[in-house]
Amino acid sequence: MDWVPMNDLSRSVSLHREELLADLVDTLDSGWFLLGPRTTAFAAELAAYLDVPHVVPVGNGTDALEIALKALMPDGRTTVLCAANAGGYGSVAARRAGFAVSYADVDPATHCLDPDDLAARISDEVGVVIVTHLYGRAAEVDRISEAAHAVGALVLEDCAQALGGLTPAGRVGSLADAATFSFYPTKNLGALGDGGAVATSFDEVAERVRRLHQYGWDTKYRIADDGGRNSRLDELQAAVLSRRLPLLDDWNSARRSVISAYADAAPDGVRVLPAADEGHTGHLAVVEADDRDALRAHLEAARVRTDVHYPTPDHQQPGLDGGGVVLPVTERLSTRVLSVPVFPELRPDEISRVGEALASFRP
Ligand SMILES: Cc1ncc(COP(=O)(O)O)c(C=O)c1O
Repeated sequence: MDWVPMNDLSRSVSLHREELLADLVDTLDSGWFLLGPRTTAFAAELAAYLDVPHVVPVGNGTDALEIALKALMPDGRTTVLCAANAGGYGSVAARRAGFAVSYADVDPATHCLDPDDLAARISDEVGVVIVTHLYGRAAEVDRISEAAHAVGALVLEDCAQALGGLTPAGRVGSLADAATFSFYPTKNLGALGDGGAVATSFDEVAERVRRLHQYGWDTKYRIADDGGRNSRLDELQAAVLSRRLPLLDDWNSARRSVISAYADAAPDGVRVLPAADEGHTGHLAVVEADDRDALRAHLEAARVRTDVHYPTPDHQQPGLDGGGVVLPVTERLSTRVLSVPVFPELRPDEISRVGEALASFRP
């Protein structure tokens, strides 16, 4: 029996292979590969989709975080605060930007930053709070912003897993002081390589991001800001992203249906994190179980691929200094979570196989 894969990117390519090939050939023939009309067009399309005035495309999601953190950090502040269960990207970007990192715990129901724990732990050294919409679920940005703004810190949404999420307050990515995106190929809107973007409603933040993503230049060859770097989306990726953006809402809705099917099938004792409404993009299908390893072995025996997002919290990573912080919920969840396959082109027979494998597990 074939494996049910965690992902198969060739399926989404085959959906519109001819159009993609034509876009790639057009870009090739145009002879314009960086900072051209396709990047400009994609930035405008994404800004319109998010309903924000500014989108600056960059090289990848981690660069987007690093550049946005530098652009946002208020003078005199030194520290970035984030959750420790979101894969380490915020911590790595903060360190690259030259800032210290501190952590708050997450809510056991949502797995996203817990606004009450954040309010208890935030200090006036913190200049930016990163709120990750983990697994695609919209986090509580309003309550987090309230706690952050109360001590003079700004809020950056990490939307790498959550492009397309829609909340009563607006699109995920338009809810805080700035937002970052990744177009890594397995993301809900994926490129054929690396890509990323920063979005913001604030003109000054956008200008600073524009400078920092190109050497700190305000005009050609004039370095106005220290700490600049080179991080750009290329025209080929921009063309692909423009082709795919109109398909995103349907893809996200297909992902949510897959996760809902798993929720219906799961036995007592296996919790499927819900992805019931448009506040969730269905990026990852994550289940929680007391004996995660036994569930994993059971699924793999049924030839269903699994993964863990993420096995080691940031504050326990060997290459990061967690400073001895204790995060009980984060630590407990890292032993309980298991990801099962979800992508828009997953076939009905594959969805049923995952559902049956979940249903036949005895916790
Ligand atoms: C939550 C989150 N933030 C940031 C990133 C980093 O994006 P990239 O791989 O494009 O650097 C990723 C994914 O890789 C992610 O899942």
